[in-house]
Amino acid sequence: MKKIVVFLGAPGAGKGTAAAAVAARTGARHVSTGAMLRDAVARGTPAGLEAKSFMDAGALVPDEVLYRMVSELLAAAPDGSTLFFDGFPRNSAQAEKLGELAAAAAATVDAAVMLDVSEATLVERLGGRRTCPKCGAGYHVKSLPPKVEGVCDKCGAALVTRADDRPETIANRLAVYERSTAPVVGFYERAGLLKRIDASGPADAVAALVEAAL
Ligand code: AP5
Repeated sequence: MKKIVVFLGAPGAGKGTAAAAVAARTGARHVSTGAMLRDAVARGTPAGLEAKSFMDAGALVPDEVLYRMVSELLAAAPDGSTLFFDGFPRNSAQAEKLGELAAAAAATVDAAVMLDVSEATLVERLGGRRTCPKCGAGYHVKSLPPKVEGVCDKCGAALVTRADDRPETIANRLAVYERSTAPVVGFYERAGLLKRIDASGPADAVAALVEAAL
């Protein structure tokens, strides 16, 4: 059987940071649908061409694009592996569909980790985020700075600010989260799978809380 752990939380809550840290310690695979879509946009694939305008506006990409990506991922995952899904599911339809896609690939959703953070912290985290366009590593100008300003510690590439981290796009992403994604928390709570984590502390403390909850 393959296992899935879903990471939930608003944009900037630290899903990618916590999922990557716990995956590195446990051998799970961190799967970010946002990172996969950004890669598809950069490579100009059909999925990327379809996704770009939605992502630039801070809107959700059409469900069908995600379903194709996720079903391919699940089919390719080896038996016995654990996948940390960061950014999927993001609305109630995707949450229902994940159950179907998992069953078809001999996988189960074992837990949903919800990272709770205040809105002021979200805006501060997103505003200071820097990302490596080459290896995907994430930084923050204050809380997680690279050793050399503007340069990725891991691969030496120049760090960038994500296109959707502009203030006006951040506001729309937070609104889309409240409208579409927040109900997914209730979906997993009703299924008895929800683990709520106070994600307001430093990144290593949050990762330790997540690891303990799993
Ligand atoms: P995606 O890439 O998933 O973006 P998101 O959900 O908005 O989440 P973020 O990546 O912004 O935040 P995060 O919670 O991972 O925070 P991070 O760890 O980076 O999606 C982008 C777009 O793709 C969407 O808008 C949509 O268009 C599309 N998309 C993706 N999935 C989709 C789906 N399923 N359906 C439809 N469309 C989809 O941390 C943020 C910052 O804070 C970093 O700088 C980090 O260093 C810092 N930080 C993290 N944790 C801490 C901490 N504990 N203390 C201090 N600083 C911290």
